[in-house]
Amino acid sequence: HSFSSNGQSLAGKKVVVTAGGTREPLDPVRYLTNHSSGKMGFAVAEAAKNAGAEVTLIAANPLKTIPTDLHVIQVETASELLKTVKEQFRDADILVMAAAVADYRPATVADKKIKKTADNETMTLKLVRNPDILKEVSSIKKPGQFVTGFAAETNDLIANAEKKIKSKKLDLIVANDVSQAGIGFNADNNQVTFLFADGRKVKTPIESKQKIATKLISIISNEFQE
Ligand code: CTP
Ligand code: CA
Repeated sequence: HSFSSNGQSLAGKKVVVTAGGTREPLDPVRYLTNHSSGKMGFAVAEAAKNAGAEVTLIAANPLKTIPTDLHVIQVETASELLKTVKEQFRDADILVMAAAVADYRPATVADKKIKKTADNETMTLKLVRNPDILKEVSSIKKPGQFVTGFAAETNDLIANAEKKIKSKKLDLIVANDVSQAGIGFNADNNQVTFLFADGRKVKTPIESKQKIATKLISIISNEFQE
């Protein structure tokens, strides 16, 4: 692969990118979330725009400031993200799911602030599974639409990513080792392996999320135009 700049290679294409991490409410003042900054998704959205695409960025509570030069839809929870992704995917050419989606949410959301009680030293939260957005997308995907997922793993990176590319019926997965400090969650740099549905693999060096995003968009536009 060469990752040369490919001009307006995505001109006229609609690209939907999700970024950030979902926030699942527990009561009016508390929620469950994760460390996703939104940086990787923002970089992908900017790279797609630079390649000439019409970009919709779906942002879920990013820690970083949302870019102002993009069409942005803000969401809070995994359920809202699912609804918005489905709406936006309908007429899209390409989806990149960089958002960190909460796998579980509190089973009930209290309408008043939950109080601690004098005699309870411990507390147990009941959680229920969130929908798998990429699995739902794969069931409505039409021929020609291209879907990319991310796999954040602390162990067995490639084996786990291979399982996810199959179970979610993806065209491409970006496998990301999040066990090392300085790359991945909330960092400026990343190191990933691009894994294709046909088994091809391309590993990047540690480099900026912008560089990785440009490579990703270059790969997607090559695959897309074949
Ligand atoms: N994802 C999704 N819907 C979910 C959870 C994850 O669409 N409910 C997407 C993420 O945006 C990412 C990909 O699936 O692109 C992989 O996410 P990851 O958390 O690595 O995988 P999971 O399938 O949730 O499996 P696990 O966390 O158990 O490893
Ligand atoms: Ca998960």
